[in-house]
Parts: sequence; C-alpha cells; structure tokens
Amino acid sequence: MTIDYHSHCLPGIDDGAKTPDEGVELLKTLKSQGVDMVCLTPHFYASMKVDDFLRRRDAALEKLLAAAGGEELPKLVLGAEIHISYGLSEVKNLDKLTYEGTERMLLELPYEKFSHVFCDEIESLIAKYDIKPVMAHVERYTSWYDWPYGFLEKFDYYGTVYQFNVTSLAPLFLRRKIKSLFDEGLPAVFGSDTHSVKSRPPRFDLFEKHLGKYEINNIFEK
Ligand SMILES: [Fe+2]
Repeated sequence: MTIDYHSHCLPGIDDGAKTPDEGVELLKTLKSQGVDMVCLTPHFYASMKVDDFLRRRDAALEKLLAAAGGEELPKLVLGAEIHISYGLSEVKNLDKLTYEGTERMLLELPYEKFSHVFCDEIESLIAKYDIKPVMAHVERYTSWYDWPYGFLEKFDYYGTVYQFNVTSLAPLFLRRKIKSLFDEGLPAVFGSDTHSVKSRPPRFDLFEKHLGKYEINNIFEK
C-alpha cells in the first residue's frame, strides 16, 4: 500500500489548499500517482488550542468531502504537522493530534540550528502522552552537523520514524543518500507535503519511479 504521510489537502485551515475544489484536485492527482491512502496533516503551532484546531479540521474535512461528491478518493486519515517549539509539551490534549488510530505524531523541527530544546520537548511529550515521533521532511536539515548520521543520532533514541518528502528523490545526490539509508534499514516513510496545485503539487510519481521496489514502513500496521 502506498501512503502519503504528509499533506496539506484540507482546505482553508493552513497555507495548504485554498478551496475545497483545490483539495479534491490534489487528492485526485495523488490517486493518479498510485497513492492509496493520504494523511491530512495541517500545521499546528503551540500558540493554538487543540480543541479549536480539531473543530476547524473537522469542518475542513466536511467541506472537502462535500466538494468531492461521489468522486473516488484515496483513503483519508487525519493527523497534524506539529511544530516543535519551547512550551509545546505544555499544550493540553496534544495526544489528540496523533495520526488517527496510532501513537505516532508528525513533528516538524524549526529551520534554525539544532537546539536541545527540541529534544527536551520531545522527551516531555513522550513522558506525558507516550507518543512516538515521526520526524517531518528530514531532508530539510542537511545543513545540520553531520547529516544524516548526526541527525539520526539525536532522534533514534525516541523510536523515531523518519519522513522524507517525495521531492527529495529528485536530486541524484540526495536520492543516493536516501537509498543507502534504506539499505541500512532506516525506518522511513514518505510524504508529498503538497500545498497547492500550482506551487507545491503532489509528486508521488517520483516515489513510484525511484523507490517502487523498496519495502516501506507502514505505521498503521500493528
Ligand atoms: Fe508540511
């Protein structure tokens, strides 16, 4: 089963799809690229309230499904992309933001340099809610110390699964690196991180083309 673990197809809730029709368009494109299941992961920041976010997420899903009509879409799973910042672990009910039916949480590191605050927050989340991390778009942090090994060293301890964006398979040097990590047994998943039809369209065709033969992790399989 091909799963997109990271997408912004829900309309009007973050910087992703602007309208329900655009959300449907993104999902139809993903389906045409061989994706069977799409995780809907709008941005969540520590300044937000979980219950408000869930209300907005439900409303966005309702609009998306209404716009889809009878159209056949990939299976949809709710989640969130949670930005790690100081104080995140103090936000109430954060465990409601895991990928539906799992203990896994998609966590996004800031662009800035590595800080121990990130690990402190992850450790507090684990202690409080017993969650397990999925680290979002790992390829974004190639400037961090000895990437990828220094990066993996920091987060492996938490039973982390690493999420790569499918667009990271386009440049040869990165694709080679990712394939070698796979060969070494890195627990990895992929996401489109699609935001819009025009500027950040789905590119799961790259996954099919370059990694089709690999056995990819499935966090939904027990
Ligand atoms: Fe994202």
